[in-house]
Amino acid sequence: MAYDSQGNSANCNASICMEGGNRLTGTVRIQGSKNAALPVLAASVLIPDTCVFQNVPNITDINCMENLLKSTGAVLEKKEERQELRINAVDIQEYRLPAKYVSAMRSSVVLMGALLGRIGEALVDYPGGCVIGERPIDLHLFGLEKLGAQIWTDKNRIHAYADELKGALISFPFPSVGATQNTILAAVTARGTTVIRNAAREPEVTALCDFLNKAGARIEIGHDFIATGRIVIHGVEISSLHGVEYEIIPDRIVAGTYLFAALGAGGSIALEHAPVTQLRSVCALMRRMGAEVVSDDENNRILASTDENRRIQNIPFVETGVYPEFPTDLQSPLLACACVSKGELTIKERIFSNRFKVVEELVRMGADIGMLDKERVRVRGVEKLVGRTVIAQELRGGAALVIAGLAAEGITTVTDIRFIKRGYQDIVGDLKGLGARISYVD
Ligand code: UD1
Repeated sequence: MAYDSQGNSANCNASICMEGGNRLTGTVRIQGSKNAALPVLAASVLIPDTCVFQNVPNITDINCMENLLKSTGAVLEKKEERQELRINAVDIQEYRLPAKYVSAMRSSVVLMGALLGRIGEALVDYPGGCVIGERPIDLHLFGLEKLGAQIWTDKNRIHAYADELKGALISFPFPSVGATQNTILAAVTARGTTVIRNAAREPEVTALCDFLNKAGARIEIGHDFIATGRIVIHGVEISSLHGVEYEIIPDRIVAGTYLFAALGAGGSIALEHAPVTQLRSVCALMRRMGAEVVSDDENNRILASTDENRRIQNIPFVETGVYPEFPTDLQSPLLACACVSKGELTIKERIFSNRFKVVEELVRMGADIGMLDKERVRVRGVEKLVGRTVIAQELRGGAALVIAGLAAEGITTVTDIRFIKRGYQDIVGDLKGLGARISYVD
């Protein structure tokens, strides 16, 4: 079967095959961020003008968002070779989003805030996404209701309506990334001022605010944002929002995935166009595990290398947390790498309730992992994993299996890579560029 440079084929269940045991060396350029791009593209619906986005990753979740935007009446033009997307949202009238796309992706829910802000109404199905535990949207609805939206839910549908959104004080009991973004989107054109307390501090929230401010919104994020989680939004008229050119920030999770691949397989790699400051907690952890990591803020580069004659060492305990703590999206890539590191590591997952699906597949490859309880696993590093055919069941768990395959002896085939394609535009091409023996197969 033929594949293009992004590994797309007619067969969405295609696999990745690799021969492990080779050190990674070389340079990889980090793609644009999925989690930053999705809400920013959704935000274009608010703006009665044309916005031009650069560095838009070529991944299936973005294709899904493009289809959702088209369904609202936006006109899209894509220049794939330049990773550029032009969105003209002058004529938005459709508030009903097609279930087919909404149920495919969790992020579709942020279109609720944007549509409410622009046309005062949104009708969506409960959103889908990777099955990594309970993923309610109560906090999204809480934020929108505080701004004055009326919300009806029946079985699988959510209908939101507002004659007029009004600024409000909104204190989130938990700093949900999606709920913060949804609330910001609805508040941009609300009458008066909105203050969000305990907003999510993730860089993808800040990126959304940067984009909206460039487009004429009035959002204040103080220098002490990480400490306070306070965002102030002064509502503006829709007519004062205008088109802008905006470059999507690099993907910290893709960058972290390749860093853990180098740790697991061993090697010496350089990341270019890397979000250096966003990866501080990850780089610090890697150093504690014995890797040499040099961050070059000025040139957006991270250099990471392992000693050929010494195994990477597990540290006793890592827990995931909200930014700037260790990200939940890198929990399974770390887990894969810990399987072949010396000593024991206990990982506690504090963000999602069921994010250890990959454990079973790693154990099939020879990993020594025990579930201590629902939120903690203990890994005892083994000398070698063995190549197997394993199944990707979700996005980051799928990427973790690729890391395990690179660190294993023999041939590993990861099947069902449609999950991986949701977030990695060319994981095979990138790793091949680092010297891995890896390819897409049917
Ligand atoms: C986003 C990211 C995802 C990342 C996560 C945490 C996108 C597209 N996805 O997901 O990759 O893993 O942040 O960094 O940006 N929750 C509720 N009620 C709600 C909303 C969330 O209880 O209304 C809970 C969730 O079930 C979960 C926790 O809050 O346990 C974190 O979720 P949230 O921060 O909202 O993550 P997402 O925005 O879904």
